[in-house]
Amino acid sequence: MSDLNRKTDSAGKRDKGGAPSPSLPLPGKDDPSPLTRHPSLIPVIAIDGPSASGKGTVAQRVANQLGYHYLDSGALYRLVALAARQRGISWQDAPALAAMTRSLNIQFENGSILLDGLDVSEDLRAEEMSKGASEVAVHPGVRAALLDLQHGLRKLPGLVADGRDMATVVFPDAQTKIYLTASAETRAERRYKQLLEKGKKADLGEILRDLQQRDARDSQRSTAPLQQCKDACLLETSNMSIEEAVRFVIDAFERQKK
Ligand code: DC
Repeated sequence: MSDLNRKTDSAGKRDKGGAPSPSLPLPGKDDPSPLTRHPSLIPVIAIDGPSASGKGTVAQRVANQLGYHYLDSGALYRLVALAARQRGISWQDAPALAAMTRSLNIQFENGSILLDGLDVSEDLRAEEMSKGASEVAVHPGVRAALLDLQHGLRKLPGLVADGRDMATVVFPDAQTKIYLTASAETRAERRYKQLLEKGKKADLGEILRDLQQRDARDSQRSTAPLQQCKDACLLETSNMSIEEAVRFVIDAFERQKK
């Protein structure tokens, strides 16, 4: 089975440079097209799910195949955790974190994410930042401060966005909503193998405990908790390859267009 959990890129968002669909007009400076005047008409595929479910890999591949933009919203929360660490701000200090997030200098460049002009894509993937992201993400002020940035990434020809609240809060009008999950044991095993492949030390029991802790924090917080919304298709990937999961998402998207 292919490794559903492998991230091919650590970027927050990237423009795959794929050709826009011929039926969609390109946005220009004085573009009168209804699509650019009403961003809600620009297609969004929202993919939510728990940590290490492989949604990032699937979302990236779907974006590649469709030539759509890609938003890894988890990278934004990781960035907040990293920036706070660099500035000596505690992950529990809600007001300071919210103020810091509002003034962050974030750029996306060729698949990389830059903080204050420096490429931090690799730093964001550290296990410590996985924990930090989950902790800073409980604060409503931090979440609110990231909203406009995420909305601004909804651009033609379309966007594939992955996270915890893409379908419920950020893009509730997304054309296609997917809740992608796998059992905690499967996810822990995938992460374990991934670390071993990278030559890192790993303890399966510890990985499982960490994942379960993050699942609990992400799904029990009061603001924008992880949940499957009513109109999302459930995609259980425990016994699925990446290719099958990608096909499922694209089929769901194609069905909704009819
Ligand atoms: O997808 P990820 O593992 O990179 O996300 C890291 C953390 O960020 C996750 O544990 C919870 C938080 N997060 C969130 O609260 N909302 C999102 N849309 C994406 C991530």
